[in-house]
Amino acid sequence: GCLDQKMKAHKRVYIGAATDPNTFNDTLVAQHLKTEFGCVTPENSMKWESTEPSRNTFTFSDSDKLVQFASSNKKLIRGHTLVWHSQLPQWVHDITDKAVLTEVIINHIKKVAGRYRGKVYAWDVVNEVLSEDGTLRPSVFSTVLGESFIDLAFRTAHAVDPHAKLYINDYNLDGPGPKIDAMIALIKRLQRRGVPVHGVGTQCHLILGQVGAVPAQLQRLGGLNVDVAITELDIRIPKPLTPELWRQQQEDFHTVFKGCLKVERCVGITAWGVSDKYSWVDTYFPTFDSPLLFDDYMNRKPAYDGAYAAL
Ligand code: XIL
Repeated sequence: GCLDQKMKAHKRVYIGAATDPNTFNDTLVAQHLKTEFGCVTPENSMKWESTEPSRNTFTFSDSDKLVQFASSNKKLIRGHTLVWHSQLPQWVHDITDKAVLTEVIINHIKKVAGRYRGKVYAWDVVNEVLSEDGTLRPSVFSTVLGESFIDLAFRTAHAVDPHAKLYINDYNLDGPGPKIDAMIALIKRLQRRGVPVHGVGTQCHLILGQVGAVPAQLQRLGGLNVDVAITELDIRIPKPLTPELWRQQQEDFHTVFKGCLKVERCVGITAWGVSDKYSWVDTYFPTFDSPLLFDDYMNRKPAYDGAYAAL
């Protein structure tokens, strides 16, 4: 069986990958998506700068194509992301008035989540709201509205699409420290306030050889009475690449996949792309390479075998 089928045999929901028209238009990528994966995350097309570049003017051309691709291939969709400080248009950064920002957040969520109501398995409602020290990350949202912007986003998303699983998503939850402590505390506060939070996403943009603490963090997140998902998995390798490093990567993928399976509430794993050829790591971490399951030529890597063997 493929990765997704093997995951489902464990009574989990999916193995997924990030994509968008720019990558699924490559027929080899599309082929892997169709055969190996059960869920897609729009890598960029549902972000605020893509969907609402100017106030109340919405553009859905790429996100519609992604949703069309998913529905014609019977893939789940993880919507990504409704409220995030990055890839956010300047007009939103410029808002200083509470009432205006509240209205803008509500309108954005109504239009974006509303367009795809009933078609999205899970939404990353808020993304990267914490700083490394565990405080609320400075952003237009936290500066103008404080922590309450998180409540607002979840309550609005729930009203718009009551069947979608609503996630809080972040990175660097891969080891112990103030950030994961703060995430756990934040989720508990949200639960106490009756905020409809159904899942926690741990991005897992990992570095080769530094994945050992991931399983224990998944356990902790899995104890919060919410679903857990690995939402953006990649394991980048410091250059220059060697066959030995690919072997280490095989082990690292195995460790992370096993870590998910050990946690009952870990419902799915999404790789942040299909092929190394299109990975964001090339541009964002130029001294690293080759973070995904398929190589530049769309061949399975040892990393794939590591993931497969874990399932
Ligand atoms: C990245 C995309 O992969 C890039 O194509 C884009 O230029 C920048 O964003 N955390 C997230 C993702 O939540 O949305 C980011 O995706 C990677 C880090």
